[in-house]
Amino acid sequence: MNPKMGNLIYAGKAKDVYETDDPELVIVKFRDDITAGDGVKTENFVKKGFYNSIISSKFFEVLEEAEIKTQYIKLIKPGYMLCKKLEMIPLEVITRNIAAGSLLKKFPFKTKQELNPPIIQMDYKNDEYHDPMLNDSITIALDLANQEQLDMIRDITIKINNVLKDFLLGKNILFPDFKIEYGFDNHGNIVLGDEISPDTCRFWDSKTSEVLDKDLFRKGESGVMDAYIKVASRILAKEDLKKWNIENLESEF
Ligand SMILES: Nc1ncnc2c1ncn2[C@@H]1O[C@H](COP(=O)(O)OP(=O)(O)OP(=O)(O)O)[C@@H](O)[C@H]1O
Ligand SMILES: [Mg+2]
Repeated sequence: MNPKMGNLIYAGKAKDVYETDDPELVIVKFRDDITAGDGVKTENFVKKGFYNSIISSKFFEVLEEAEIKTQYIKLIKPGYMLCKKLEMIPLEVITRNIAAGSLLKKFPFKTKQELNPPIIQMDYKNDEYHDPMLNDSITIALDLANQEQLDMIRDITIKINNVLKDFLLGKNILFPDFKIEYGFDNHGNIVLGDEISPDTCRFWDSKTSEVLDKDLFRKGESGVMDAYIKVASRILAKEDLKKWNIENLESEF
């Protein structure tokens, strides 16, 4: 039986976190709101929360199979994910396999330059300071994490990158970069939290380079939801697509 949904604990820019009658569990509700540019550009796409929740669930399941500790318990129904309650670490852990986005504005990388080994970058998750890039000394001085925890976060992140990059390549999707967040469970373990979705990752079609993520919204292009549906229909099993009544946009998958 599912725990009962309780009070709203936190409303973010794209998700709400609810307590449940089990103090160790929360329900993360994926909303349809989408934001870009530090929350300056906002919109609402019908069923975005539905798709992001089923996409995220699939990635968490793939990672759990690879023995990576995640918050994920189950998808109660599309849009509503039952998760372990975590004490979040205010770090945006970004992994880059191909140069794109803000990296090109800050450093002289070439567009689409391959980054092997990947770049792991940590930004301070703090809207007031506009999520500045950190180094280990600043992170430790701010008491966000200690060196041992940072080393652990890097190790887990590299493993996550390898697992998801290979999984996605099997679905003809490149994985240029992604942002994840970690938290502590109540035993002090570092656990992957938040979401893994087209809002927080870059996904490119491996054959055509078609963009399948939030960059379409950032650039004011059309077809945002079609791109999210394409990601879902490629990565989810056929039974799940059927169960959630998702139209398969691509007949070869
Ligand atoms: N398992 C969890 N337990 C507790 N809090 C969580 C968990 N997973 C994620 N969170 C937190 O819940 C919030 C999710 O909301 P959302 O992502 O919409 O907001 P945001 O992070 O404030 O904004 P944005 O990501 O757009 O910068 C985040 O603060 C995130 O750190
Ligand atoms: Mg967020």
